[in-house]
Amino acid sequence: MSEEEAPAPAPPYVPERRVVSIVPSLLASDLTRIGVQLDALQAAGCKWVTVDIMDGHFVPNFSFGPDFVRLAKKRGFFVDTHLMVDNPETVVQWFIDAGSDILTFHAEALRHARISMTALRSSGKMAGLAIKPGTSVDVLVNAIQMCDLALVMTVEPGFGGQSFLPEMLPKIAAVRAAIKANDVDCFVQVDGGINAANIAHAAAAGADSIVSGSSIFGAPDIGAAYKDLELRAQAAFKP
Ligand code: DX5
Repeated sequence: MSEEEAPAPAPPYVPERRVVSIVPSLLASDLTRIGVQLDALQAAGCKWVTVDIMDGHFVPNFSFGPDFVRLAKKRGFFVDTHLMVDNPETVVQWFIDAGSDILTFHAEALRHARISMTALRSSGKMAGLAIKPGTSVDVLVNAIQMCDLALVMTVEPGFGGQSFLPEMLPKIAAVRAAIKANDVDCFVQVDGGINAANIAHAAAAGADSIVSGSSIFGAPDIGAAYKDLELRAQAAFKP
């Protein structure tokens, strides 16, 4: 095939909104076998993963740096980078340069949310905003027009393997209602303690981006666990 006939490169994958995506959290992966684990996820149809960034200040834990985002991008995933860090404006460019597709700030760590979210969008990236369990959902509702993703934490951020907080479900519904009322295109993401027993509640409340770590990576068959969560969420999802 001559040069001019070479097929055009496929456009980059962007998840559909209002179609449930299961988003494995690589914090729960086994770093000694991560290649095999990512193979299993991709074989099961997974295209979107989340990388949790922790600085030991905003949350009492450390995790990854920009190179881990590069690794996930090199494997062809759509990557959202969850910045659980203080002063995220000072480090966000490192994770933009690493190839993140969505970068999610915590509202509790931002001094000037509108400036930071607008700057992120101006860089061509999608802008996410997250709230911890103790933060009012009004923070997301009032900011929904500047969000490409709104994240309701269903555990206190910092560690995987915690129990889901069902009292967060009304927040998910409130964010979904705000998206409808403002007619904006925004993912409703939930993160923390999601498993086969509770995922339908999160999807029914309106979550279309559902992060799961230990329920996937702790399963004997990672691909099967991913697909089981996907089927349960798709059956229950109410956009
Ligand atoms: C916690 C992280 C979550 C966590 C999810 O701060 O943001 O992504 O890894 O893991 P599970 O699904 O095990 O709660």
